[in-house]
Amino acid sequence: MQFLFRKPIFGYVIGIFMVVAITGILLSVLLGNYVTLTAVLFIQFIILLLFLLHFHERFIKPIKKATKTVDEIVKGNYRARFHHPSGDSIGMLSNKINSLARNLSELSIQEQMQSEQLSTIIENTQSGLVLIDSKGYIHFVNGKFISLFGLTAKDYQGYLYYDVLDNEIIHETVQKTFLYERNVKEEFTHFKGIDKFYIEIVGAPIFNDRNMLKGAVLVLYDITEMKKLELMRKDFVANVSHELKTPITSIKGFAETLLDNSMPHSEDNKEFLEIIYKESHRLQLLIEDLLILSRLEKENFQLVLTTFNVKELVREVKLIVEHKMKKKDLSFSVDVEEGLELTADMEKIKQIMINLLDNAINYTPEKGRVNLEVKRSDDTVSIQVKDSGIGIEKDALPRIFERFYRVDKARSRNTGGTGLGLAIVKHIVEVHDGDIQIESEPGQGTAVTVYLPKVRIDD
Ligand SMILES: Nc1ncnc2c1ncn2[C@@H]1O[C@H](COP(=O)(O)OP(=O)(O)OP(=O)(O)O)[C@@H](O)[C@H]1O
Ligand SMILES: [Mg+2]
Repeated sequence: MQFLFRKPIFGYVIGIFMVVAITGILLSVLLGNYVTLTAVLFIQFIILLLFLLHFHERFIKPIKKATKTVDEIVKGNYRARFHHPSGDSIGMLSNKINSLARNLSELSIQEQMQSEQLSTIIENTQSGLVLIDSKGYIHFVNGKFISLFGLTAKDYQGYLYYDVLDNEIIHETVQKTFLYERNVKEEFTHFKGIDKFYIEIVGAPIFNDRNMLKGAVLVLYDITEMKKLELMRKDFVANVSHELKTPITSIKGFAETLLDNSMPHSEDNKEFLEIIYKESHRLQLLIEDLLILSRLEKENFQLVLTTFNVKELVREVKLIVEHKMKKKDLSFSVDVEEGLELTADMEKIKQIMINLLDNAINYTPEKGRVNLEVKRSDDTVSIQVKDSGIGIEKDALPRIFERFYRVDKARSRNTGGTGLGLAIVKHIVEVHDGDIQIESEPGQGTAVTVYLPKVRIDD
């Protein structure tokens, strides 16, 4: 039957002709009248021809069309359709082929969407990804990997990993992953220009259905921020311990001397007691500052927002610092707009002013000038403390907001400073969504300006 369908129509006509010829030969034995015989054979030929045409139109042509449609579908053209009007078996076949094409089309759209989603995720993930086959050839690297290690995907894909990646830890990770056939985790530092990155690399083996190793995927996490935080925490603990150690050592030392009975002079005793008092005061200040910082850093920290008159607050601050100003014979001027109001945490703003003025007093030689100015602009209120003091070197400027950082350690200690004043100011400014700027010229003076949003809509 199949062979019949493959024949061109011309072949069938020749076939019919042969059948008619054979019938003619057989009938010629029975029928002597050749006219009748020719008529019979002609009628037979016509009938067979009509039958062939009908058969061709009805079955062969639609089946050819169906085969062509299926061929198109096999090639991936899911939009190919085959229409056959009648409801017979060919019509049913056409319906089945069309619904198969529709289903395949939907499936391919879904598959395309899924693969697009997957590649979007892989490309935009914050981890670098590298896919290596069991022979060590790189098959895929994603965008994050490229952004960390440079070059383009083409420079990695299709190459052996040890030819294109010159990091020993990456080599080791791949080798261990292949050797132990389990996840392997390592860490390394990576330099991109002058930037230093801390990278955590995880090598994970990939197995096929028969549990045979097919390759490995490397996941590279950028843990620079985490490392920096860890380092900061370690530094902070070391700094706090160091800051506490000095006063405690001196308190203990002088207390021991006082306890020693061989100290007869009461004048010395008084001096030692004064030192003990001074050092314990320093300890108290340090602990108070640490507590302020830790409260500001608490996750559930809440500002106590009120709308207050700035001039009144400045008056209170003035009373607190005036005594120290007079002691150093500093000229103190205040410049605050009349009736200026601010919505903020009043106690914290007071703390900002006190800390900044404290610095201005401590780092300005006698007879110098200190100015406090509070101004409003469109949507911010700025608090500026300006002094004519010793100023700060350019190199030190970016560091002065760090905890415990002092430009001149000995000098700052003499003023009773803990090195936390500006760190606290910065924190308070941050929790108010404000900004802080500093300008300073060694030997000329310093101006610290805090910008706060005038009206705070608390969330
Ligand atoms: N107005 C200023 N003029 C010159 N140097 C300053 C000024 N303000 C701050 N500094 C420098 O910045 C450092 C850090 O200041 P910060 O207020 O944080 O600490 P501190 O004054 O040493 O101690 P405290 O915690 O008691 O305020 C100071 O040690 C000082 O070297
Ligand atoms: Mg200070």
